[in-house]
Amino acid sequence: MLKSVNIVIPPDKSISHRAVMLASISAGSTRIKNLLMAEDIKRTIEAFRAMGVDIKSKGNNVIVQGVGMTGLKKPSKPLYLGNSGTTMRILPGILAGQDFDVVLEGDNSLSKRPMQRIATPLKKMGVNIEGHRAESIPRLRSGQVEHRAEEIKPPLKIRGGELKAIKYNSKIASAQVKSCILLAGLYADGVTSVREPEKSRDHTERMLKMFGCRLKIAGSEVTVKGPVKLKSPGTIEIPGDISSAAFFIVAGCILPGAKIVIKNVGLNPTRTGILDILKKMGADVSLKFKVTPRLRSGLSSVAPRRSLSRAESRGSGQESLKLESAGDIVVKSSRLKGVTISPKEVVRGIDEMPVIMVAACFAKGRTTIRGIEELRVKETDRIKSMVTNLRKIGADIRVEGGLIVINGGKLLHGANVSSFGDHRTAMSMLVAGLGTKGKVTVVGLGCIKKSFPGFLTFFKELPHC
Ligand code: S3P
Repeated sequence: MLKSVNIVIPPDKSISHRAVMLASISAGSTRIKNLLMAEDIKRTIEAFRAMGVDIKSKGNNVIVQGVGMTGLKKPSKPLYLGNSGTTMRILPGILAGQDFDVVLEGDNSLSKRPMQRIATPLKKMGVNIEGHRAESIPRLRSGQVEHRAEEIKPPLKIRGGELKAIKYNSKIASAQVKSCILLAGLYADGVTSVREPEKSRDHTERMLKMFGCRLKIAGSEVTVKGPVKLKSPGTIEIPGDISSAAFFIVAGCILPGAKIVIKNVGLNPTRTGILDILKKMGADVSLKFKVTPRLRSGLSSVAPRRSLSRAESRGSGQESLKLESAGDIVVKSSRLKGVTISPKEVVRGIDEMPVIMVAACFAKGRTTIRGIEELRVKETDRIKSMVTNLRKIGADIRVEGGLIVINGGKLLHGANVSSFGDHRTAMSMLVAGLGTKGKVTVVGLGCIKKSFPGFLTFFKELPHC
């Protein structure tokens, strides 16, 4: 029997970006407790500092002196956002309301990522946004090329100004697109709404409420009435990132005799797809649900232990006064079975799909994953990176007519694989290596610091099967 391992995962990356952004444009000073200090968030912090925001940090505690909605200053040079797609796609919503022009640049990988998805709605709102023209990635459905629309990639040049409110029907479920439009909507005169095919993560909506903004949420449609002036709630506390916890949840499932306790994980229902999928696969995962920060005060409070309510676990869209729920996840060694994963489940666990593919390789029987198109446009093409790597270690995984099909339960072996420069591919393949006969060496681990700088320290505590 493996000893019980306790893991404290890093703060949530999505919530951290939003905390810095909203605190910067609100009135008053915001204390952010437990901010993720990883590469991507540092880019967001540096971008706001370059636009005149005073941000002081001591470890994971940060104080942001908000400059108000239009108080940002034109930066003296282009803003370099490194590898951070979330900054590149959400920040333009705020820049749309400023009275200056600015250029956003990224590293090689970010410069290949599609930005038309934010340019189209922003242009409709009257924003002048230009990027590097590029051919779009063809969308595949049932093996056929669906469309090849106009596409732009970074660098992006944005000139803000007076904005029109719009009603936008997004073709993709994307929290980055939704957030960008909602933030621009704060500056527009009138009602801006965004509807998505499935409800994506709702951290922006929750945090906007915390900063005093009223929103209407009906299913997968969010509406804001502008202009809005955000006001600091005082203190924000950020829970651990379930996307980082995911690697240890799957590790716990596949390691014989394991018990892993992961502390203080964000359990927002729009992010808990991984828990539902793994439970369906037969995983022994349970929650100690105990931290429920209150929206009104902006201060966290510790509520009595209770289990995840049905409404919350389903992501009912009903909004309570809480900002984000969090709790401890306990995972034990499990006998997994293959399942069918729907597009809706993929949206609620989009960043966890690489490690879910790993879990499926250790499950008995067939797993199929539908609705996978968005995986092609992450930090790397995650279908290509994971299929290539998992095949190299002997897995039976293929893409068939727009689906990923995995026949699990094969004996896997060691090999040299590549991170493809993608943090989640790197960590997923290290987890896969816990259950192989022979060593899996992942080449290019530097990218892990994008979201989980201490990953290898915790990972080394786990035994190889
Ligand atoms: C994120 C949204 C998701 C996710 C990304 C972070 C966010 O992207 O994959 O890692 O913080 O809003 P999409 O909006 O493209 O789905």
